[in-house]
Amino acid sequence: MDASDASTRSCRDVQESDLSALLNIAHDTGLFTPDELDELLGDTLRGIFRGTLSKEHRARVVLQESSISGILEPAGWTYFAPSDDDNDDLRMDVYELYWIGVSHKAQRSGFGSILLNDCETLVREAGGLKLVIRTSSTPATSAARAFYADKGYEQSNTIVSDYYGPGDDQVTFIKSL
Ligand SMILES: CC(C)(COP(=O)(O)OP(=O)(O)OC[C@H]1O[C@@H](n2cnc3c(N)ncnc32)[C@H](O)[C@@H]1OP(=O)(O)O)[C@@H](O)C(=O)NCCC(=O)NCCS
Repeated sequence: MDASDASTRSCRDVQESDLSALLNIAHDTGLFTPDELDELLGDTLRGIFRGTLSKEHRARVVLQESSISGILEPAGWTYFAPSDDDNDDLRMDVYELYWIGVSHKAQRSGFGSILLNDCETLVREAGGLKLVIRTSSTPATSAARAFYADKGYEQSNTIVSDYYGPGDDQVTFIKSL
């Protein structure tokens, strides 16, 4: 696969027909149990499709050309929205990237970079000044932490110990856009 070919790397809003492909990509990362997958990501995507989440909630997909069928298919996707602050008030100038994932076979080919650029552009256009990304401290997300650092995100000093479970801290990355 050649991610440098512009025809194979366009981003667009997710569509209802993408749902199973998007959940498969997230499932294959091994980061979610089936219940978490459906409750966290499935319900969010359904909320976007049905309009029960506000229009600031965006999910975007990057497409690649299938080497077998030649059809454009999802290689990865993002979900982002204005951030809730500690008082649960919406901050329209601070956005949070709640999910980014690229299918196993397409990783390290530039698709994550394309998705993050797309997210940053849309957040900037919506008036966002900062993008926040929270992730886990475990080896399962080491690629993501290296990726955020490579993309100019600064790791915050605030680490929430055992946030996701025993020995699984929450680490926060922030970038001014
Ligand atoms: C994080 C993720 C989205 C990156 O996507 P990707 O398409 O592989 O990223 P890119 O190819 O655009 O990588 C850009 C740069 O990030 C860094 N990077 C990406 N993956 C890395 C890895 N496994 N180890 C070290 N650095 C890495 C490198 O600097 C890379 O540039 P290079 O390939 O020229 O060295 C992908 O690894 C993924 O889907 N991980 C599983 C899901 C996940 O953890 N999501 C985050 C949950 S919070």
